[in-house]
Amino acid sequence: MNTLEALIHNNRQWAKSIEENHPGFFNKLVQQQNPDYLWIGCSDSRVPANEIVGLLPGELFVHRNVANVVVNTDLNCLSVLQYAVEVLQVEHIIVCGHYGCGGVKSALSNQKNGLIDNWLRNIKDVYNQYEVQFKAIKDEQQRIDLLCELNVMEQVANVCHTTIVQDAWDRGQNLDVHGWIYSIQNGLIKDLDVSVNNKDGLPAIYRTAQSHSDN
Ligand code: CO
Repeated sequence: MNTLEALIHNNRQWAKSIEENHPGFFNKLVQQQNPDYLWIGCSDSRVPANEIVGLLPGELFVHRNVANVVVNTDLNCLSVLQYAVEVLQVEHIIVCGHYGCGGVKSALSNQKNGLIDNWLRNIKDVYNQYEVQFKAIKDEQQRIDLLCELNVMEQVANVCHTTIVQDAWDRGQNLDVHGWIYSIQNGLIKDLDVSVNNKDGLPAIYRTAQSHSDN
């Protein structure tokens, strides 16, 4: 059996065991997906979204990219966000980074990697914003971990600054945005305690005015 055949074989086993444990599971999923959560995470193969929070297919809407970055011109991420918020009506958006993130590590260095450096620029901007904090830390690992955490917080803010999320709040939709970080070393998630569920805490300049249907 070659490697790809092994994957198909695994798939057959997986589908069989799901159906055994949850009879009618796939039939039900065909009808609809009804996830309560949108996950925005890193593409890193060591951070599989559903598995680490113990959720089954249908329970988590997922967007992943290198270093879990939310950029306001990224149509891909914004489209996922719009669909999750407006159509699926998720109640929680979780930005989940992870310690030891290769993208963050690379952003913290000056090495040249080609095209991806334009993507990692977003993380360099986070570093630049908090440079004073980094000046006090000599240990490389600690510097990377701090930037991993600050990057999550920054992306939580970026999610909140979108018109998609602010329009949802204006409509009175329940929507919480959370920042988490996962440790590859022990498999545990830490809540960074930066949850936001309204515009009040946002810097004034990013707040959109509430639109009125009569104008
Ligand atoms: Co990563």
